[in-house]
Amino acid sequence: MQAAMLIAIDGPAASGKGTIASRLADAFHLPYLDTGLLYRAVGLRAGAAPEDAAAAVARRLDAADLADPALHTRAAGEIASRVAVYPGVRAALLDFQRRFAAQPGGAVLDGRDIGTVIAPDADAKLFVTARPEVRAERRWKQLAGQGEAVSLDEVLADIRRRDARDSGRASAPLVRAADAVLLDTSQMDISQSVEAARRIVEAARGRWETSRPG
Ligand code: C5P
Repeated sequence: MQAAMLIAIDGPAASGKGTIASRLADAFHLPYLDTGLLYRAVGLRAGAAPEDAAAAVARRLDAADLADPALHTRAAGEIASRVAVYPGVRAALLDFQRRFAAQPGGAVLDGRDIGTVIAPDADAKLFVTARPEVRAERRWKQLAGQGEAVSLDEVLADIRRRDARDSGRASAPLVRAADAVLLDTSQMDISQSVEAARRIVEAARGRWETSRPG
């Protein structure tokens, strides 16, 4: 039987981390949590509410809220990054994420602070990134597929703004954990990215299994 494994994947918007995370979860038969959905759901429900009210929304969130198709819109990404700067919102979402990560069979989580805050002891940590222009083009195609009419320049501006907000905030900023393996997918397609990520996880698992007693 395969040993339990906790995989933490972080990176900026549209880096490919979500696709990589869900494919790794399938490959290793692990449950997967896209933590961006939590912030998107809080953002959509709280709007421009102040920190206390947004934190109250975060405490009331339940799993059904994460199935709303509106979470995948451009507006939801923007508002998510606004509520994500509030320490009260982040604190309200911490327990749910930590419990998901602590499942006995292991798990895959992706977000901005998984390897640094949510699961610092993860067995494998990846920091997935790509050049902003590449990420903008990917997100633009995805939004066009969902029927959102927006120019490539606007999407690139969104990405740069969100990168600056996510990296610049005081509470759990987007940063590569010292022990996370950097995966730059700028020159890779989806299958190459997933394959590279799978190799990183296999290597981490090899190290981890040989270093464990018994
Ligand atoms: O990953 P996604 O683009 O869906 O995340 C939306 C926003 O939620 C991010 O721009 C970020 O501000 C916030 N987020 C976060 N911490 C996480 C996941 C997402 O701050 N673990």
